[in-house]
Amino acid sequence: MSGRVLVTAALPYANGSIHLGHLLEAIQTDVYVRARRLAGDDVIFMWAADTHGTPIELRARKEGITPEALIERAHAEHAAVFRDFGIGSDIYYTTHSEETRRHAERIFAAMRDAGHIHTRVTTQLYCPNDQMFLPDRFVRGQCPKCGALDQYGDSCEVCGSTYAPSELKDPHCSICGTTPVPRDSEHLFVALAEHEAFLRGWLRAPEAGGRTRLQPTVRNYVMRWVEDGLRDWDISRDPPYFGFAIPGYEGKKFFYVWFDAPVGYIGATEKWCGEHGRDMNEYWRGDAEIVHVIGKDIVYFHTLFWPAMLHAAGYTTPARVQVHGWLTVNGEKMSKSRGTFILGRTYLEHLPADYLRYYFAAKLGGEQDDIDLSMEDFAARVNAELVNKAANLASRCVKFVHQRLGATLGAPAADAAPLLERARARLAEVPGLYREFESARALRLAIEIAEDFNVYVTEAAPWKLATSDPERARAVCSAAIEAGKIVAAILKPVLPGWAEKTERMLRLPAPLDFVNAGDPLPAGHEIDAYETLAERLDPAKLAAIVEASKATLGGGATVEAAAPAHEYEVEPLAAETTIDGFKGVDLRVGVVQSCVRVKRSDKLLQLGVDLGPLGTRTIFSGIALSYSPEQLVGKRVVVFANLKPRKMAGGVSEGMILAAGASDDAITVLELDPRSRPGDRIS
Ligand code: 2FM
Ligand code: ZN
Repeated sequence: MSGRVLVTAALPYANGSIHLGHLLEAIQTDVYVRARRLAGDDVIFMWAADTHGTPIELRARKEGITPEALIERAHAEHAAVFRDFGIGSDIYYTTHSEETRRHAERIFAAMRDAGHIHTRVTTQLYCPNDQMFLPDRFVRGQCPKCGALDQYGDSCEVCGSTYAPSELKDPHCSICGTTPVPRDSEHLFVALAEHEAFLRGWLRAPEAGGRTRLQPTVRNYVMRWVEDGLRDWDISRDPPYFGFAIPGYEGKKFFYVWFDAPVGYIGATEKWCGEHGRDMNEYWRGDAEIVHVIGKDIVYFHTLFWPAMLHAAGYTTPARVQVHGWLTVNGEKMSKSRGTFILGRTYLEHLPADYLRYYFAAKLGGEQDDIDLSMEDFAARVNAELVNKAANLASRCVKFVHQRLGATLGAPAADAAPLLERARARLAEVPGLYREFESARALRLAIEIAEDFNVYVTEAAPWKLATSDPERARAVCSAAIEAGKIVAAILKPVLPGWAEKTERMLRLPAPLDFVNAGDPLPAGHEIDAYETLAERLDPAKLAAIVEASKATLGGGATVEAAAPAHEYEVEPLAAETTIDGFKGVDLRVGVVQSCVRVKRSDKLLQLGVDLGPLGTRTIFSGIALSYSPEQLVGKRVVVFANLKPRKMAGGVSEGMILAAGASDDAITVLELDPRSRPGDRIS
């Protein structure tokens, strides 16, 4: 082993904003990297935005910008959020880079030359209107198993069954509503089964040092996939597709986003090495220790496809793939309507990053259990542990010594020696715990030390001795300050700012690490004034975050997403606009003349809306759970009148009526007063 360590977190998809699901993983990775550095390892954290694929292509079109502009905007937004959460990656690059292209082509060429790429004609659904093959998620229709309406082309959210898009009943294109048709196209496949022997060996072998490459539960289910037979993997996509052209198929075939996404790890490394005078071969061609942190939804890609790709082209294969579970909020899937689909930026508008860093790290262990962010528990733990225990210990003792005892430490009190010994023994366990992604257990040790010493200080009551026995008071506080220093070192990977303040106020001779934190400060050492380490978390702030996260416009209000959501179809990244952007929307007074329910849909109503001189429009609106048709007839509504007509529900919708609500069953239609005349423009 060269001793070099390269760590990655999964590359966030550039089609969406950073939410707390991403941050769970970013914080887990950041803490791991910082802890290993503190333990003396030579670690780099390589990262990027994942930028290719159909959703990017389509969103850019919809916004009338180039995919390049779209991903650039997303990249800047991601990078700023991660920076503000203190995520210390060495680089946040992009997969849309020449480096990534080169390595993707190299891996492809190696596989092709070794005969591992096969071509075959497949039949897929094609939208004649959009003139494109539809990825599974862009086909919607009725579930072939349970009959639920409006389900995705690959799985049903109601009964949970999975199927091929061709099996859907009454399929339609989710972009334009047209019924897609089956069409043939030649595709390129990686024959994964040809890598089975290598993969079995890779999955069996432990990481150097006897550590496991995969958590045992993960290894078990990956082995089951191997036993069930490795299927060919389609790595090509037809245009229009934003991505890298496949060599030899220019203009005709592009690499599937999942082929080049992980290659972004290598691309980022090459970019960073170039800028820092390092040789990327020391990482990807040598014996570096490569560690990937991912969510449990993308295990297949990282434990089968990816090692096979790397191996085929002679790159270093991962030493470890660490898998975490989902993030739930208040015990449930994150949901926009409940206000629990929380964006990183929204959180930061109300609370400091450190609370979330602490809470996530205090919940994360080495297993792939789901992590629940319960708002009540979040406030309770931050306040009970971080504020009342850890910060309180430092605050009471540092302030007292600084203000009452001439800012000078003494030898730690002899009666605290056993407790200090225990604190040092706990400190010794910490690097190993962080190394195994057991941050919850490491932080538990810090809080236990703070608990012990808070009790000790309370019983010794140094403030009563300031005049009668100042040396005893100094000895008691000095012991507690020693303990506070150890606590700060344990917290350091999670709360680097806390450690820095401790280094400053205690005037430490060197930055804290897991070893020097145990060395006692000499008697006579002078300290500085206390700096606030943590303040009480006001639960009202959490309520404000939830409120701010509730989507306000009807359309997006009820989209739900698991976290770390499959960025392939999450959160729209709203483009910044000006008042002129809004002026482009022509709003008119409309009077609802007729209204009926749409057959086989519980959400849709079909309205006939009178726009006066502009005629009568047919408008489909997803408000059937909030209004019965009778309630709407006669209402004066606001119509988005220059909206491009859209095929839907077997007809064409010629506009939109303005409505808003926190969930499908709580929508309010904007209503105008009876004097307004149909067709009038609303300003
Ligand atoms: O699941 C996702 O959101 C992907 N963008 C993760 C890619 S990780 C790596 F392979 F690039
Ligand atoms: Zn279409």
